Amino acid sequence: SVTRHYKFNIRMKNVTRLCGTKSVTTVNGKFPGPRVLAREGDRVVIKVVNHVSNNITIHWHGIRQLRTGWADGPAYITQCPIQTGQSYVYNFTIVGQRGTLWYHAHISWIRATLYGPIIILPRKNESYPFVKPYKEVPIMLGEWWKADTEAVVNQAIQTGAGPNNSDSYTINGFPGPSKNCSSNETYRLKVKPGKTYLLRLINAALNDELFFKIANHTFTVVDADASYVKPFETDTIFIAPGQTSNILLKTKNHLSDDTKFLIAVRPYSTAAPGTFDNTTLFGLLEYHGINNINTNITTSINALAVPPLPPINATGYVANWTNQLRSLANSQFPATVPQTIQRRFFFTVGLGTNPCPKNQTCQGPTNATKFAASVNNVSFVMPTTALLQAHYFRQWKGVYTTDFPNNPLVRFNYTGTPPNNTMVTNGTRMAVLPFNTSVELVMQGTSILGAENHPFHLHGFNFFVVGQGSGNFNSSTDPLEFNLVDPVERNTVGVPSGGWVAIRFRADNPGVWLMHCHIEIHITWGLRMAWLVMDGKLPNQRLPPPPADLPKC
Ligand code: C2O
Repeated sequence: SVTRHYKFNIRMKNVTRLCGTKSVTTVNGKFPGPRVLAREGDRVVIKVVNHVSNNITIHWHGIRQLRTGWADGPAYITQCPIQTGQSYVYNFTIVGQRGTLWYHAHISWIRATLYGPIIILPRKNESYPFVKPYKEVPIMLGEWWKADTEAVVNQAIQTGAGPNNSDSYTINGFPGPSKNCSSNETYRLKVKPGKTYLLRLINAALNDELFFKIANHTFTVVDADASYVKPFETDTIFIAPGQTSNILLKTKNHLSDDTKFLIAVRPYSTAAPGTFDNTTLFGLLEYHGINNINTNITTSINALAVPPLPPINATGYVANWTNQLRSLANSQFPATVPQTIQRRFFFTVGLGTNPCPKNQTCQGPTNATKFAASVNNVSFVMPTTALLQAHYFRQWKGVYTTDFPNNPLVRFNYTGTPPNNTMVTNGTRMAVLPFNTSVELVMQGTSILGAENHPFHLHGFNFFVVGQGSGNFNSSTDPLEFNLVDPVERNTVGVPSGGWVAIRFRADNPGVWLMHCHIEIHITWGLRMAWLVMDGKLPNQRLPPPPADLPKC
């Protein structure tokens, strides 16, 4: 293994999309950002220099950060932000992971344009447990707003309402031909016939879970969140914000030059229509040989067949999708599912009331009459100093408390009529785990503002998705059905719309680890909490001291 050095200069850059030019936050002037490439076992050292007027942090989404919590990146959780003119070196080793992950800004909504792929190849002399691809292509799904996204979130916070929808979905930054003014902004995947391509799919969208499809083609899914899965065939991929997946695309034989197929991307959502962008984004799969770059793409695309996608609210398809994912679980890549559990948690997750009913106590991140989201009735309040520093230097007084509830404050029928008083409270409360605790966590959607899927991401760990179901979790019968043999191992999983999901992980990584819904507006509303994992007794079970250049608040 080697050490790989990168330098990320964070700079503003003018980018033109959908007939408008705006200045966006980028890495080295690139949108989307440059790739980070490493092999399993490598050390990665990335110096981030902030040349913009906003504070910046970068999170290496899905990287285990084993005993390198100082390099995880969420603002005010593991570090104070990098201020204008300052720099910080993120330094971590890739342990036991290979596949696709990604990085993104982890402060406010800056990740809208500041994101890029992390490509982790197997160790040298180690091959993929599937056919060697002819070519590998990162496919990053995102969203584009014509407006400045910081203005979009600020307006949402001030009005207490939902944010404006994005103006388009994007593939590798391109909004596609279905929007006016963007016929030259179409993502084109150029392929040769009869070859296998590895698509490294990333959902970097802020607020939307997405379906991904290519007309007349099927995929073989081989990995989820940088963990191998038992390969399976599908023609439609489901991917939530934060998730990544490696999929094989076998191109057709003997196709003539200039044959094209539509790539289609559309959201999955059970939210009220109008509260999300329900348009379909198109890209092109082009068989090799095309050279008429100046063809009127809009016209030629209109002639192409639109691949049929699942309905926008296809909860059944999504539930089935999660069920199909099984870890490879062979001797080389075993599934290390905790079989005995030391700590059990039951978390309710969901949005709060708006407006707050009269004579009741509802407190969101902004105020009582605005949207709030909570985990176990606690809407997370961002501290003004980093939790990990406060913990390490024992300066937690006034910064956080360690009384995050193991269970919701009120139990009710989570899928029926919601109660009048949802008991939302504000707080920076952490749940404490002794080193190496085996944890089982059931997350139940509360459906208070309507049933919605919440893709929950855990920093610092992979977890196993041992069960999921619709309706209310039944603690006596549902655990009997848990899969403890080959559950998928990942870092982001949907709490199903009107249902629950059960995960298991081992708290083998000391530090402070954020867990949150990866729908950005839900984070803004407080849908997050943090785990405090204590040091173990042995020296190699402790969090080392912070690096000297760790930013100060
Ligand atoms: Cu990809 Cu805390 O985020």
